[in-house]
Amino acid sequence: MFSTIYSTMTEPPLIDICNATIWRGTTRVFNNLTLSIAQHERVAILGPNGSGKTTLLKTINRELYPVAADGSWVRILGREHWNVWDLRKQIGIVSHDLHSRYIPTTTALEVVVSGFHSSIGVHGMLAERVSKAQLAKARDTLRLLGIDSLRGTPLKSMSTGQQRRCLLGRALVHEPQTLILDEPTAGLDFAASFDYLSRIRDLSDSGHNIVLVTHHLNEIPAEVERVVVLKDGIVVGDGDKESVLTSEFLSSVYETGIRVAQLDGYFLAYPA
Ligand SMILES: Nc1ncnc2c1ncn2[C@@H]1O[C@H](COP(=O)(O)OP(=O)(O)OP(=O)(O)O)[C@@H](O)[C@H]1O
Ligand SMILES: [Mg+2]
Repeated sequence: MFSTIYSTMTEPPLIDICNATIWRGTTRVFNNLTLSIAQHERVAILGPNGSGKTTLLKTINRELYPVAADGSWVRILGREHWNVWDLRKQIGIVSHDLHSRYIPTTTALEVVVSGFHSSIGVHGMLAERVSKAQLAKARDTLRLLGIDSLRGTPLKSMSTGQQRRCLLGRALVHEPQTLILDEPTAGLDFAASFDYLSRIRDLSDSGHNIVLVTHHLNEIPAEVERVVVLKDGIVVGDGDKESVLTSEFLSSVYETGIRVAQLDGYFLAYPA
């Protein structure tokens, strides 16, 4: 396990949240949330719709801030204050929100290259803003993800799965230490989902932080050792997969009958 290779004693956690209150518009999503995720940890976050998963990821990525109060903090990599651009260089993110912010005429190459700048697209200025090395890396990433032939194709002319692959390319191109994935396989077919899974496994193997939100237990890579379950903004479950992913516990969290099975290191959920 990586915890034995990397000393968690000497490095600050990826995220250290203490007594945080976090609002989303007019909704108080978290009240006194306390949660810590170490560097190099691989964590899956589950929970019913509206339980606060995306809000938590946006807090890690500094798109949302907690209410300032004594004895309350959100520290990312040991710091409460960040230049967000510096922070985002260390984080690769795939989410529906990010996906929907791209204008439909952005090409696959532009989407991937924008990962170097943590921006949304490069506004047709590939030549000025992007180095040759970055372009070459982006082309390599497109090739790796099997979408090199789409490099000049605008998002509006791609299938959902092809667009998602571009987003994954954007998250991976600058080789961030941390990957934050909010339902990254939404809309992907089996081949694309399994391909994505194997890439996540490779990144896990090389010690990357992975924080994955998913509704599909079978998409939790075997390397993910910790599962956090949210419900109504409260951490109701936190532990290893075997102890959290049980039929009884998930049925109570989702308030519906759920059976959980295990196969080859993967978990599967089906109606009880
Ligand atoms: N922009 C917003 N303005 C106000 N409230 C919001 C906003 N976005 C989300 N919320 C509310 O915040 C709460 C948490 O939402 P969040 O998106 O974090 O849930 P989630 O666990 O990611 O759900 P899902 O599984 O549906 O993606 C919900 O009650 C939701 O209605
Ligand atoms: Mg969400």
